[in-house]
Amino acid sequence: MQEIVFATNNSHKLEEIRRIAGDRFRILSLADINCHDDIPETADTLEGNARQKARYVKEKYGYDCFADDTGLMVDALGGAPGVFSARYAGPGHDSKANMDLLLRNLDGVTERSARFVTVICLILNGEERIFEGRVEGEILTAPQGEAGFGYDPVFKPAEADRSFALMTPDGKNAISHRGRATAALLSHLLTL
Ligand code: IMP
Repeated sequence: MQEIVFATNNSHKLEEIRRIAGDRFRILSLADINCHDDIPETADTLEGNARQKARYVKEKYGYDCFADDTGLMVDALGGAPGVFSARYAGPGHDSKANMDLLLRNLDGVTERSARFVTVICLILNGEERIFEGRVEGEILTAPQGEAGFGYDPVFKPAEADRSFALMTPDGKNAISHRGRATAALLSHLLTL
């Protein structure tokens, strides 16, 4: 089975991507290659951060790899939190605090359209490629459900009648930003 490094230690993301990849690829984490660094994500775009993380792993550890960056873009907030989604409520990457701040900033707002966007940068055989996936939806007025991670309890995709946090893992992957970006990545890998 072909091995490829996913430049993350986020267990939720690894589980989602391993489920999508099935037995076609063995996806290694950063821990699997003994990388315990806090990889810089200092670009001002999702694509810039995905490239930065993938290049870091390739240059420092020598592995072909892919890295992702995801943002939640809320129209009523001019696209925020966007590239700052992980640190919206501060540097602690606290999902509950991020959701609470988002709900406070949308208090009384009726136009709640939003989208998740994932950008993946693949570095393989000396080439860099970008893949993107997105899902349109809206921000709920209160959290719904416990599954998933991050902003899942407050995001309802347009194609569903419930939040991501009330869906099964396969149900979320079938329509999610990361599911779509990963599907594009895997179909590219399968053409090689
Ligand atoms: P990053 O790609 O890990 O930098 O994610 C940016 C922010 O978006 C973090 O706060 C994540 O928790 C959140 N996030 C990423 N993917 C998802 C998702 O699939 N559902 C909900 N929140 C997510």
